[in-house]
Amino acid sequence: MHPDVQKVLLTEEEIRDRVKQLGQQISRDYQGKKVLVVGILKGAMIFLADLVRNISIPTYFDFMAVSSYGSSTQSSGAVRILKDLDRSIEGKHVLIVEDIVDTGLTLKYLVENLNSRGPESLKICTLLDKPERRTVDINAHYKGFTIPNEFVVGYGLDFNERYRNLPYVAVLKPEIYQG
Ligand code: PRP
Repeated sequence: MHPDVQKVLLTEEEIRDRVKQLGQQISRDYQGKKVLVVGILKGAMIFLADLVRNISIPTYFDFMAVSSYGSSTQSSGAVRILKDLDRSIEGKHVLIVEDIVDTGLTLKYLVENLNSRGPESLKICTLLDKPERRTVDINAHYKGFTIPNEFVVGYGLDFNERYRNLPYVAVLKPEIYQG
């Protein structure tokens, strides 16, 4: 275990099993269709890479990078697009892939923004859901795990851009945040 980690919340094995189930469920739900997976950088990159290898229907990719204004552990509500999609999503089946839904502000913005571009359908898949923190009414169609209100890192999620490469989801020791 990494020396900065206080406890592992989700092990590699738990994540692998659940990601496999999600991929299979998505493949069933979109059977006969093509899906455009929209990954939200950077947090979703690891989850996305594992998820799509468990999807068996034709899958295409595009990416967006968005940033919420404010400190690293709090979302303020304002969202700006750092990198937009490369192509039009009009008439396509779009699946947004996120690492975590926290306040829900990022997703609310993304859903409104992408819906205005005329997709055939728009759904959300998130690895983690932290419902206790929600300030807006938004819910993912596919959820990996519901987690308590603790700040987590690993498997794509960062603290000040660190720890994204941990293969599990973990809570850091308090002195790391205070450090
Ligand atoms: C994280 C996460 C979501 C958002 C969720 O991104 O990837 O996009 O916060 O928070 P919310 O539900 O309160 O809006 P972050 O801005 O930390 O960027 P990152 O993915 O590059 O780490």
